[in-house]
Amino acid sequence: MVPSENPLLDNLRIEPTPGATTLVIFGASGDLTRRKLLPALYSLSRGQRLPARFAVVGVARTATSDEQFRQQFHDSLQEFAKVDARSDEVVRSLQAQMYFVAGELDDPGLYARLAARLKEIGSEGVLYYLAIPPGVYGTVAEGLEKAGLAGTPEDGWRRLIVEKPFGTDLASAQSLNAQLHRHFTEDQIFRIDHYLGKETVQNLLVLRFANGMFEPIWNRRYIDHVQITAAETVGVERRASYYEGAGALRDMVQNHLMQLLSLVAMEPPTEFTASSVRDRKMDALLAVQPVVGGDEPPAVVRAQYREGWVAGAEVPAYRTEPGVAPDSKTETFVALRLKLDSWRWAGVPFYLRSGKRLPKRTTEIAIQFHRPPLQIFKRVSPTPLASDLLVINVQPDEGISLRFNAKIPGTRMQVAPVMMNFGYGTSFQGEVPEAYETLPLDAMLGDPTLFARHDFVEASWALITPINELWQKESGVPPTYQAGDWGPPEADALIAKDGRRWRTL
Ligand code: NDP
Ligand code: BG6
Repeated sequence: MVPSENPLLDNLRIEPTPGATTLVIFGASGDLTRRKLLPALYSLSRGQRLPARFAVVGVARTATSDEQFRQQFHDSLQEFAKVDARSDEVVRSLQAQMYFVAGELDDPGLYARLAARLKEIGSEGVLYYLAIPPGVYGTVAEGLEKAGLAGTPEDGWRRLIVEKPFGTDLASAQSLNAQLHRHFTEDQIFRIDHYLGKETVQNLLVLRFANGMFEPIWNRRYIDHVQITAAETVGVERRASYYEGAGALRDMVQNHLMQLLSLVAMEPPTEFTASSVRDRKMDALLAVQPVVGGDEPPAVVRAQYREGWVAGAEVPAYRTEPGVAPDSKTETFVALRLKLDSWRWAGVPFYLRSGKRLPKRTTEIAIQFHRPPLQIFKRVSPTPLASDLLVINVQPDEGISLRFNAKIPGTRMQVAPVMMNFGYGTSFQGEVPEAYETLPLDAMLGDPTLFARHDFVEASWALITPINELWQKESGVPPTYQAGDWGPPEADALIAKDGRRWRTL
């Protein structure tokens, strides 16, 4: 741990460590495991955050020996964690505790072999991580329960981490919840939304509820509107087989952006416990009005990227990316306006946008305040005053900025907006943990605060599904935008209709 300038901070960094745990990764040969999970285990171990007694059991269909799995761990670190794995004591001690069990996921024999292995290891807690295609989540939950591996009161704890996507619409999410609930209780199920593991997203709770000055102004009386942006420069990458059936609305808005919205919009929880925080988030989500079926046309725009230039490189159109249908209608950009029916937010629109192949990778939440009621500087400073703005920079430059008006130094009274910036990198030393470190650790500790609850997932799908169904019925082609632009002109029109504009990022 790097000592900070403030010794108080060091004393505060006393962090709990879980008891003896075995992590069972289903899908241990897959991309997620290689790119995210194994490097995260290494970082946690290096930071002494893993239990003193910790083991990993990889599971997949392809026959793999313990030795081969240990080698895969080594290779994944070389590629994704930039570690010289041969000379690193942390790597070797983790490798010594890594095992592999291969088999078909619907074969009871697999679970019998897994049970035998878990017994040999003998941990008090077992965390199952489903890094497998969603179609087999239910199969694994059932297989575990039938083999007596889902936990009984006499066992230690047994928990299940479920990856995204959690359903493709409301009906499939409900069915998946029902399937999992047949074999595991809700408090054993940890649904990942990696945005909740991001440091700045958690800091939003602290900003709002550990300070006295923001909460009194966090409402319709002071806030004009909220903009939430998740912009990516990457295209579909090698994920067309998944993305073609998803699109930006289901891939980003249903989960990540709705989570951000609920954290901005929620009422103060009475305490920082999982149930209190998740109840208040749920209330906020339930206040969001349906986008489709109201008096007005749906305030939502979708579009797909054409060829263009991003970060100085020429990039192809979505429809010519590998694995994408030449007549694909899948949206790679979405913008929408949401209204919340609550005393706090009545009349305050929340504008959300997310897209691939945009000019810049940035995720931010912008809280735009009302202008002062009286423009007393109008005569001396003729340009209109910028309204105050609070920006939570989720990534990549994690921090918080406040824009307010100040006098330009000089003999005349002239006003201009200035920024006050807090950056994680400058205020705190040490590395910001990745979501894939924070979240599995929380699951080992049994803390579900930063995981999506079943009712939240379903309520979010209830909002998103009608939009998607509407699009499915539309016969025309969706609008397009040039790669490297901030989406189509229709997105600008959506917000301009309300007399506002998207922030220039
Ligand atoms: P991969 O296709 O790379 O890996 C799938 C893994 O599951 C392999 O280990 C595969 O091994 C195993 N597997 C077991 N049963 C099946 C089956 N019936 N069909 C296919 N594979 C099976 O997928 P990812 O690692 O990319 O994704 C895994 C899960 O994580 C998915 O739910 C995905 O949506 C989610 N996810 C992935 C992210 C990523 O960055 N990759 C990000 C967010 C979520 P074997 O063939 O030997 O059985
Ligand atoms: C994933 C989506 O959930 O989030 C991807 O499936 C997207 O399409 C990714 O690229 C963005 O995550 P991050 O952490 O890079 O903002």
